[in-house]
Amino acid sequence: MLLLVALGIVFSFTVVTTERVENTNHKPTSPPLNYSWISLPPEHLPYFLYNNKKVAKQCRLDPLCPFKDALQDLANCWGYEKNCDPGKRFSYPVCTKADSGWYSRELFWKQADFGYVQERLSELKTLCKGDSSLKCSSQTRFCKATNLYLDLRKPRRSHERYREDFIQRGEIGGLCRLNKKALAAEGEHKSPLQSWYAELQTYTELDFDPIVDGHCDIIIEKPTVFMKLDAGVNMYHHFCDFVNLYISQHINNSFSSDINIIMWDTSFYGYGDLFSETWQAFTQYDIIHLKTYDSKRVCFKDAFFSLLPRMRYGLFYNTPLISDCYSEGMFRAFSQHVLHRLNIPQDGPKEGRVRVTLLARSTEYRRILNQVEVSPAAAAAPPSLLPSSVPLFLFLRITHNSDIFIGMHGAGLTHLLFLPDWAVIFELYNCQDESCYRDLARLRGIRYVTWQKMDKVLPQDKGHHPTLGDHPKFTNYSFDVAEFMRLVLEAADYVTHHPKWQRRALHDEL
Ligand SMILES: *[C@@H]1O[C@H](CO)[C@@H](O)[C@H](O)[C@H]1NC(C)=O
Ligand SMILES: *[C@@H]1O[C@H](CO)[C@@H](O)[C@H](O)[C@H]1NC(C)=O
Ligand SMILES: *[C@@H]1O[C@H](CO)[C@@H](O)[C@H](O)[C@H]1NC(C)=O
Repeated sequence: MLLLVALGIVFSFTVVTTERVENTNHKPTSPPLNYSWISLPPEHLPYFLYNNKKVAKQCRLDPLCPFKDALQDLANCWGYEKNCDPGKRFSYPVCTKADSGWYSRELFWKQADFGYVQERLSELKTLCKGDSSLKCSSQTRFCKATNLYLDLRKPRRSHERYREDFIQRGEIGGLCRLNKKALAAEGEHKSPLQSWYAELQTYTELDFDPIVDGHCDIIIEKPTVFMKLDAGVNMYHHFCDFVNLYISQHINNSFSSDINIIMWDTSFYGYGDLFSETWQAFTQYDIIHLKTYDSKRVCFKDAFFSLLPRMRYGLFYNTPLISDCYSEGMFRAFSQHVLHRLNIPQDGPKEGRVRVTLLARSTEYRRILNQVEVSPAAAAAPPSLLPSSVPLFLFLRITHNSDIFIGMHGAGLTHLLFLPDWAVIFELYNCQDESCYRDLARLRGIRYVTWQKMDKVLPQDKGHHPTLGDHPKFTNYSFDVAEFMRLVLEAADYVTHHPKWQRRALHDEL
């Protein structure tokens, strides 16, 4: 405490527990304003206009266009566009190793930044051409289809969420010339969350125009996104879905929320989604379960099949990344996009105050046993305690307004995606899973720290000698309070010296 006073830092401490109750879906209110369909963070507008020359032209001619400022700098580009000057890219990875040069930065950019979009765009191949169309990136990880026919009159529903024989020959297709060989060549990653091959391998050349010739029971005019989702009860896995949807929108160059999202699911079951409010950043409508269309022939004028959450070399689950590089790039853009669409404000920071959030788990293991000692140790005032039923909007607001975010290894740390750029994520103990959240922090471009001194962390005594089955994830821990404080102060020092923190805290630049 003395130390804190000497430094002139006041910490405000918040403790949040990770368990959440399911929330009912709120409908977003969208005023029917002109240009309101664009709804992008101000920083993204020049990039959007660069890629939407028609909108830019319309805006230039319209004295009431709200994007006049963004029109000033139309040389900015995300980086994946054909004519993008590399000097004008949205982001540049930073590599910290002394011998890492241009090659490392460019490699990271392709692995985990907007270069990833460029790679997928360069792979796009037309597989079926005609009045309908089908175009896919390699291994059918992302596909675009127009005038798509889908016959669900005999749905083979079962207990399996992703049945591979659900759609058979003649039940999916279009009026176009199909390159059968080229399609068959993209089948090596056939696996539910790795590619769309199981769904598209039976794509059939039809001898009728599905839409014009009256073969559809329902015609969906609205642009449609097909998704196969990972576990909706786990933040790490579910946000992998959202990130891949966002990346897919970049590939398609469209961010409108006037779209349908169809959850491809071959089971009878609904979907357990603890983070369903997040969908509002992507669509104005409820998510549609595929079974809604059972017993019908349904045709889609425009659709894409989103990138999937467990693709080989996909993002961000188990992604191999070149070491010692990080970027404030695509993941920062994702974070800004979601925060903007969900209306989550940044209310600070304020000079002399560092906002600390401690994520307390309410599960059977990885609890912080001396949480009561540890949390007020950093604060001048007692911590504000929040119940486990905090709705996602409020939770994101707390996260986005934290300068230091502390938690044990666990999916709740995925909140780091929504920390401000100057923040530190402190994975109190990584439970020997060293890369998971360290790498997510590198993708997001924020500072990551974790506990190093193993003699200063105590696993809970289990009343028996440790056995091989005692994985470090499955116990609780006590932490040395002095060492804890040392790490928090180090993090606070980083935060308060960050130029972006200073610009806002010291110059009130909001
Ligand atoms: C929208 O813009 C068009 C021209 O760009 C204009 O004619 C129309 O009045 C605008 N509508 C609203 C609601 O502002
Ligand atoms: C994909 O891009 C096309 C062409 O710009 C657009 O018309 C369509 O609405 C987009 N699809 C979705 C699902 O956003
Ligand atoms: C961790 O702590 C909680 C709460 O005290 C307790 O219920 C649980 O059994 C502990 N877990 C282990 C593995 O000791």
